[in-house]
Amino acid sequence: MKILVTGGAGYIGSHTCVELLEAGHDLVVVDNLCNSKAAAIDRVLEIADGSLRLIELDIRDTAALTEVFQSERVDAVIHFAGLKAVGESTDLPVEYYDNNVGGTISLLQAMDAGDVRTIVFSSSATVYGDPHQVPITEDFPLTATNPYGWSKLMVEQVLKDLQASDERWSITLLRYFNPVGAHPSGLIGEDPNGIPNNLMPYISQVAIGKLDRLRVFGDDYPTRDGTGVRDYIHVVDLAQGHLAALDTHATTPGAHIYNLGTGSGVSVLEMRAAFEEACEQAIPYEIVDRRPGDIAECWADPSRARVALNWQATKSLMDMTRDGWRWQSRNPDGYQE
Ligand code: NAD
Ligand code: WQD
Repeated sequence: MKILVTGGAGYIGSHTCVELLEAGHDLVVVDNLCNSKAAAIDRVLEIADGSLRLIELDIRDTAALTEVFQSERVDAVIHFAGLKAVGESTDLPVEYYDNNVGGTISLLQAMDAGDVRTIVFSSSATVYGDPHQVPITEDFPLTATNPYGWSKLMVEQVLKDLQASDERWSITLLRYFNPVGAHPSGLIGEDPNGIPNNLMPYISQVAIGKLDRLRVFGDDYPTRDGTGVRDYIHVVDLAQGHLAALDTHATTPGAHIYNLGTGSGVSVLEMRAAFEEACEQAIPYEIVDRRPGDIAECWADPSRARVALNWQATKSLMDMTRDGWRWQSRNPDGYQE
């Protein structure tokens, strides 16, 4: 198939491009590089052979995007492009709604004009808000606590409404839990701008000496060691979930929704200990106040994806930390030379 990947130069997109190329698909990547570098695509092509064209374009430019669909015979779209920093979304709500919701609407218009009606969308476990229990199944109540989360929920609604109005569409909503780690080659990985917000890139930068210590946000949660528990999933497992979704649904119209997680929770202190083992050095830490908006625990029931997509995460916590550390130690400044 020829697949158009929006946001394909980003963290999850680049890993998915590798898996898609290795499975023999042809790729068109559309990315405005607002949170990524073209070097990531060069690295993708060092890992995997195949056909990949990078087009530097903002998906809100509907006219230019429509031209891409006219000139390339695209079969399906995987849609990663968007802004993802939760805290920033509270400061810049209009930018987040414009990019994430407006960008998706522009994409859907260009797809429709190009007669392409299969889309796999990057949603997030954030749409479950503070879940009433764990593990979380796909039919749990949906809510959001910040503009980023609302933008994901809004896009989910737009896609569901579109499919309900026109049954030719195949839409798949993949709700990612906490993606971490990097490709085992050490060539691609997460390259955050500034001080990382997320746990694993923060720990990595402590290990490499860029940050002095980990700040653990609260040790008084009702969890086994008092720190927050999350369902961390290796980014390569996550990437493979997209292939499984395409294999299963590219020609199946309908609205399909899946959790992509491992089904088990890891605490902040457990993640720190696993990273210490991977990098063979101590990660200093201190306990500080809870981060506003954080929840105690969140992990997936991934059984729907296992049954319907024949997909499940296979990589361990040690794979996540070892691969994350390999990327960080070989590329201390990310894609910057
Ligand atoms: P990322 O920032 O690394 O990748 C997003 C890519 O989209 C970047 O390359 C960026 O340049 C591009 N982009 C942004 N706006 C664009 C626009 N208007 N036009 C064209 N390109 C644009 O983020 P990621 O971690 O790879 O996340 C990918 C998707 O998965 C996002 O939609 C994110 O919300 C979602 N998601 C991420 C996580 C996570 O923890 N990383 C969890 C759940 C869901
Ligand atoms: C994990 C745990 C923190 C940093 C976020 C988004 C979510 C999704 C994934 C996109 C929590 C603790 C963290 C630190 C810490 N993104 N922590 N010190 O908050 O589960 O999810 O990323 O969709 O929408 O909200 O991930 O990695 O930030 O935090 O103690 O410096 O690590 O309190 O318990 P989170 P995270």
